[in-house]
Amino acid sequence: MAAVKLRGVTKRWQSPGQPGAYQLGAIDLEIGDGELCTLVGPSGCGKSTILRLIAGLETPTSGEIYIGEKKVNDLPPRDRDVAMVFQNYALYPHMTVAENLSFSLRLRGLDKGTIRERVQAVAKSLGLESLLQRKPSQLSGGQQQRVALGRAIVRQPQVFLLDEPLSNLDAQLRDNTRAELKLLHRQLQTTMVYVTHDQVEAMTLADRMVVLYQGQIQQVGTPQTIYQQPANRMVATFIGNPPMNILPGVVTPEGIKIGEQILATAAPVPIGQPIEVGIRPQDLRFSPETKLGLTVDIKLTELLGAEILVHAALRGCPQTEIVVKVADPGLGEKVYFSSDRLYFFAPATGERLG
Ligand SMILES: Nc1ncnc2c1ncn2[C@@H]1O[C@H](COP(=O)(O)OP(=O)(O)O)[C@@H](O)[C@H]1O
Ligand SMILES: [Mg+2]
Repeated sequence: MAAVKLRGVTKRWQSPGQPGAYQLGAIDLEIGDGELCTLVGPSGCGKSTILRLIAGLETPTSGEIYIGEKKVNDLPPRDRDVAMVFQNYALYPHMTVAENLSFSLRLRGLDKGTIRERVQAVAKSLGLESLLQRKPSQLSGGQQQRVALGRAIVRQPQVFLLDEPLSNLDAQLRDNTRAELKLLHRQLQTTMVYVTHDQVEAMTLADRMVVLYQGQIQQVGTPQTIYQQPANRMVATFIGNPPMNILPGVVTPEGIKIGEQILATAAPVPIGQPIEVGIRPQDLRFSPETKLGLTVDIKLTELLGAEILVHAALRGCPQTEIVVKVADPGLGEKVYFSSDRLYFFAPATGERLG
């Protein structure tokens, strides 16, 4: 087991035939020994690149990468003692499950007894014992992904690198496998870096999560901190489902003017300045009382089971949409805002103001 450290790591590509370059970083990140750290962000934000840099499949343009105490910039992938699991499994199609599991150990020249022991132990912990003689084509997607995981685990690496390993599974299997993976991490206590574009997966698995956007780290923290104290509008709207509502307004002496209505609350910027008010759909209630609220017109309701998702528009300002998630269907015209759950952002930068 080992910690992973990235210090000032950048990666720059000049795409041939395309103007401009893609720039990752500089990334400064420390992943603790035994920690399960998730990297999350929209497609193209640089998640896989960071993983590939740690694995040694890409060379950084600048900066240093450490695994444990050792600087690994100049080490080839096979000497870094990491194991990577990909979305598309990448099993050897002509080998049985047992052969897929034992391949890397045979390559390393381990003795037969040790190999058999390790393969048996991993097959047992992943429920693959009855499948050892099958070929990958005779397995379901979920089973194939378990074999891919098993192949990483038998190697007993210092660090696991997982790149969207559950993305090819259907929803229910994905939820089950996600839970299994979390249990597996508890057993193994090995450092895991887990890449996903799915914020629910990132939140539920992580000891700590890293939110990325356009090649830059936006925020690092526990899932709870990221959810409750997002650093900026990007993090606030990316984490949480449905996304946080963002209402653009202007500060007036009476409160924040949103469309033609006034939200009677103090603001962290001076009068006359523009501001964005952020509020999560879960923190809204419909109520006839005025307290701290806005009048909306309901466009559409969706039943989610225990809860109802209401799509509404600000009265007099139909382009400003507000999504409300409520348990009881006692709908009114006014949306009541719980005042200690408001977030404020600077419109120009997206920076969180309070
Ligand atoms: N080999 C490459 N050459 C040029 N650009 C690349 C290369 N690999 C990745 N990129 C760029 O890096 C960006 C980040 O890619 P990637 O790390 O795969 O994102 P993610 O995994 O978050 O979806 C992409 O938008 C892509 O333009
Ligand atoms: Mg990727």
